[in-house]
Amino acid sequence: MTKMFRQYRIVANISVILVFVFSTLLVKAKEQASKQKADFNPGKIWHDNNGVHINAHGGGVLHHKGQYYWFGEHKIAGSEGNKAHVGVHVYSSSNLTSWKDAGIALKVSDDPSSDIVKGSVIERPKVVYNKQTGKFVMWFHLELKGQGYKAARTGVAVSDKPTGPYLFIKSLRPNAKTYPMNISKAEKQAVGLLLKGQELPETLASNIDNLAVLKVFARDFSGGQMARDMTVYVDKDDKAYQVYSSEENLTLHVSLLSDDYLSHTGIYTRLHPGGRNEAPAVAYHQGKYYLLTSGLSGWRPNPARQYVAEQIMGPWKKLSNPTTGVNAQNNFGPEKTFGGQSTFLLERYDQPGQFIAMFDIWRPKNAIDGRYIWLPVEFKNGAMFIKWQENWQLNAFE
Ligand code: DGJ
Repeated sequence: MTKMFRQYRIVANISVILVFVFSTLLVKAKEQASKQKADFNPGKIWHDNNGVHINAHGGGVLHHKGQYYWFGEHKIAGSEGNKAHVGVHVYSSSNLTSWKDAGIALKVSDDPSSDIVKGSVIERPKVVYNKQTGKFVMWFHLELKGQGYKAARTGVAVSDKPTGPYLFIKSLRPNAKTYPMNISKAEKQAVGLLLKGQELPETLASNIDNLAVLKVFARDFSGGQMARDMTVYVDKDDKAYQVYSSEENLTLHVSLLSDDYLSHTGIYTRLHPGGRNEAPAVAYHQGKYYLLTSGLSGWRPNPARQYVAEQIMGPWKKLSNPTTGVNAQNNFGPEKTFGGQSTFLLERYDQPGQFIAMFDIWRPKNAIDGRYIWLPVEFKNGAMFIKWQENWQLNAFE
């Protein structure tokens, strides 16, 4: 082989390699660009207008005058981030995909005597607009500083503007000394006896499903019922309902709020006593109310659940797990809700009837790194279906 031929072969080989490398890079760049064109990339970092990962965990979305407002827990780095050190963050958007940082809607307090002092726990904030008063009302789950999750209270704050600032009004345990609408005669009699510290006759006890759970209800009857994971839902007639995990997270309560949305009315029902539901989210679609929940396993994911009802106060019927598919990022499918936990069912105001299911992937060791899973909801034969998608666009509904 001549020297010239050898040189020619080397140059030819290098050219082939370069062509291969460049075409691979081109394909990758194209793939990346098409991924970035997708509106939603569940589980991935989600940048706001400043290029910062959105900090609105356990959130909910309000629509008002053509704008969406995403409220959520502002987390800080590390496990300390599971406590409220800043407050409730709000972002605004007109298209659900690009979000503008609109600041801290509700700030924690520096006053050690305030229920929302820095270091308390403020979770799952939800904001609704009251047409009668013209006020924006924020409800959230509150745990008092230094008490772990023992306080199990709900807090409320108001503002004249969607983005705040919100003024904290009070925290409480709802519906003290009030029986739910759906309590049976036997249950009421049993609670009455338990309140007097009396034993239940065997004939009565045997008539009650879940007596152990009813005992928790009776324990809190006088002081007010526990209220942890929660959502607020405004119905077609503008009546608002708070749905929260009560009775040591064993039972959900659906509770009608006053006309100004600032108090509980004492009108409420118990939903699936002993069902151990958390993370409630409500939707109304073609004559039926749907409830998306999780089971109970702290920050760790578990299978999602769904319920359906003709009336918001129930009775609610449990259906099967609405989720399908596998999140390739963590290999979690329906048995772990793709690694997430529900937080809200968002209805598009411009396309009523189209819902997005919102979930959180919690990162309790570095709370600020928590991720979001937003997926379209399909309603079929009176049930919700939520299929995993690596990326998707709003026209996926059409
Ligand atoms: C699960 C709840 O859904 C979250 O909001 C939070 O309260 C964690 N438990 C705390 O462990």
